[in-house]
Amino acid sequence: MLVSIALTALAVLPSTNALVRKDGVGKLPALGWNSWNAFNCAVDEDKIMTAANEIVSLGLKDVGYSYVNIDDCWSIKDARDNVTGQIVPDPVKFPSGIKGTADKIHALGLKVGIYSSAGTETCGGYPASIGVEELDAATFASWGIDYLKYDNCYVPSNWTDQYVGCVPDGTNGQVYANGTCSIDNTTAPATYDWSTSNTAKRYRIMRDALLAQNRTILYSLCEWGQADVITWGNATGNSWRVTGDITPDWPRIAQILNENSFQLNYVDFWGHNDPDMLEIGNGDLTLEENRSHFAFWAAAKSPLIIGTALDLLPADLLDILKNEYLLAFSQDATFGKPATPYKWGTNPDWTFNASNPAEYWSGQSENGTLVLALNTLDDTAQREIIWSEVPHLETKHYQRDAFEVTDIWTGEDLGCVPYGLNKSVNSHDTIGFLVGNRC
Ligand code: GAL
Repeated sequence: MLVSIALTALAVLPSTNALVRKDGVGKLPALGWNSWNAFNCAVDEDKIMTAANEIVSLGLKDVGYSYVNIDDCWSIKDARDNVTGQIVPDPVKFPSGIKGTADKIHALGLKVGIYSSAGTETCGGYPASIGVEELDAATFASWGIDYLKYDNCYVPSNWTDQYVGCVPDGTNGQVYANGTCSIDNTTAPATYDWSTSNTAKRYRIMRDALLAQNRTILYSLCEWGQADVITWGNATGNSWRVTGDITPDWPRIAQILNENSFQLNYVDFWGHNDPDMLEIGNGDLTLEENRSHFAFWAAAKSPLIIGTALDLLPADLLDILKNEYLLAFSQDATFGKPATPYKWGTNPDWTFNASNPAEYWSGQSENGTLVLALNTLDDTAQREIIWSEVPHLETKHYQRDAFEVTDIWTGEDLGCVPYGLNKSVNSHDTIGFLVGNRC
């Protein structure tokens, strides 16, 4: 069933009505930091400014990370300002208001993001924006906000949808237990136009409110992949979540990678799937798992939004976040399309499998073809990249073709490599290469 969803989606040509913004905002995947995965609701100016200062001092700003995003729980919980109707920043958490924090972030040469929901309350139960989109967009603009993450909680009954429409998280149609996706999009008639759904409408109202501001605010849709967002997200926002929430463990990361791998055909300049924010540095992820997580999020042209306490981040994980080859692929000025699977490996091609997603991926870039090979198994295994199998590498003489190769993790120039590469890969690790000219 799910395989046929994916194949149908692949047959549809992406529309070209992407949301093009001033100054290139949203053209490339956003790079930044967000408070949620690190701190959940316990957010305040100290933590935000610690992150902002670390982005500068750790050199993350120098390699392109620019957004510092405040997630849920930043405001007073039970009331708006009774005169202006505006959301009121929590004076204990943000003593100088969001505007005061935003000014400090801007003074570091960074940008600032805020969070709301297309419902009556945010997921944490704080005031949200449905029905007051223009007021909230204007308020955010007046505070100097550069990025809005717009969530999907507390949707009033007159705004719910007949169909949910998302790819279930589990294997073979089984629904994942977090409840964010209980129905898949086969429940809607095949001809149903998801851009007419109430979900799409709710997100367009905020889009229009943001576009009406005299400030460019990147618009990040967070509706967990519902209402087949990949088909209308591009005309609505700069990025769109395609799954439920990430957690800092390998099974969930593999599961999200699997889901995202079937939904990449609408991604290009100006519009990006968001498989949720990075968990690098969190939970019990091994070095190998952190490496694979970053490699596939960058290769899929996802927003790369760091979600950890940067002042505690070990050096080897910082190196992953600063990987020059993967960041260059993510931010490539010439090729907007993501890397995609060319071979599933452990499973037959096109298998939807939460534990063993596609293992062999490739994508074009100015620096050559990025080729990744993942070991989804729980033990060390060989992974073999064969040039003649890799899309975009023009091979003529199966055995004799050779290419210039660079290892993306070590930076080592492997010289002119014939046929391909066969490596032992640790459990959940990824090998990656930039394959250049024929030699
Ligand atoms: C979820 C969202 C998370 C986080 C959280 C805040 O819906 O997916 O990323 O923003 O709400 O309550």
